[in-house]
Amino acid sequence: MVDKLSSIKASFEADVQLVTNLEQWEVLRVKYLGRKSQLSDAMSLLKDLSGDQRRDFGKHANEVRTFLEVVLEDTRIALEAKGTHANRIDVTRPGTKKQTGHLHPLTRVEDEIKQIFLAMNFSVVEGPEIETEHYNFDALNVPANHPAREMWDTFWIKGEQGKQKGKTGPTEALRYLLRTHTSPMQIRYMEKNTPPFQIIVPGRVFRYEATDASHEINFYQMEGLMVGPHISLANFKYVIEEFFKKFFNDPAMQFRFRPSYFPFVEPGVEVDIKRKGDSKWLEVMGAGMVHRNVLKAVGYNPEEVQGFAFGMGTDRLAMLKYKIPDIRLLYSGDLRFIQQFKK
Ligand code: PHE
Repeated sequence: MVDKLSSIKASFEADVQLVTNLEQWEVLRVKYLGRKSQLSDAMSLLKDLSGDQRRDFGKHANEVRTFLEVVLEDTRIALEAKGTHANRIDVTRPGTKKQTGHLHPLTRVEDEIKQIFLAMNFSVVEGPEIETEHYNFDALNVPANHPAREMWDTFWIKGEQGKQKGKTGPTEALRYLLRTHTSPMQIRYMEKNTPPFQIIVPGRVFRYEATDASHEINFYQMEGLMVGPHISLANFKYVIEEFFKKFFNDPAMQFRFRPSYFPFVEPGVEVDIKRKGDSKWLEVMGAGMVHRNVLKAVGYNPEEVQGFAFGMGTDRLAMLKYKIPDIRLLYSGDLRFIQQFKK
């Protein structure tokens, strides 16, 4: 009987040497300590033995069992440590780069523009994207049926008619629309503020037109407005040349102010620039002196205050600055494009 116990122990010691993973360890445990193990068979014979024999054998069997348990536990701990070791961080491996977000190129350009104007004491204000016909057109000297309305292909908003009496004029704006330009903020700001002041208005605008490499149904504008006594086109010329030279970091760039027409300015101009290395003139903004009708409509006296206003396409400036060939790339959500603007 005691020989039997010795042979169990010997065969266990041989088997345990061969265990290399936790699955094999579990098989070994069941084989030697399970209900159907040789040890358990041997124990079941205890009851047939006489007093002394039973005590001797029992003691011996218990020693063997304790031995198996201790060795098995040590083996398990060693195997687990080995497994953990395999998962441990290998400091010699090259790291994986964490993906972090960054500003969209349009946001960056908008910020750059703001910084330059803030340094010239302009304030930044914003207005609603859903506008009334009154602010988008009428108050800007573009009454209904005026042919100039065709300059802006408009998304009209169905249904509900905003019955809003223009505080400053006889027009009742009956319809809502998606603003076609940031100019309505000229009116909203002038209604609530007294000159002198100078503001810029960044914002999204909408045009109901076919898209191509230089047209999108929505894009961004930066409006500018400076009103006060004795403001003239000369002030505009200085401010805007200062802005573009800084924006394109090109102090020697050339400017051209061409007469143009917008109903809310008189005279109206379009500004062209030619940078170092440009072969042709690039049109960059519409502008002009705020029309007397507009000043009067917001309750200002055109004999006392004058102002200039301008509007430029933020997308267009981004495209010129960063040589982006297609405006649609800015709205594509294509990370291969966007990530080129990571600082
Ligand atoms: N709002 C005009 C446009 O979107 C641009 C502009 C603004 C022209 C201010 C003159 C003065 O076309």
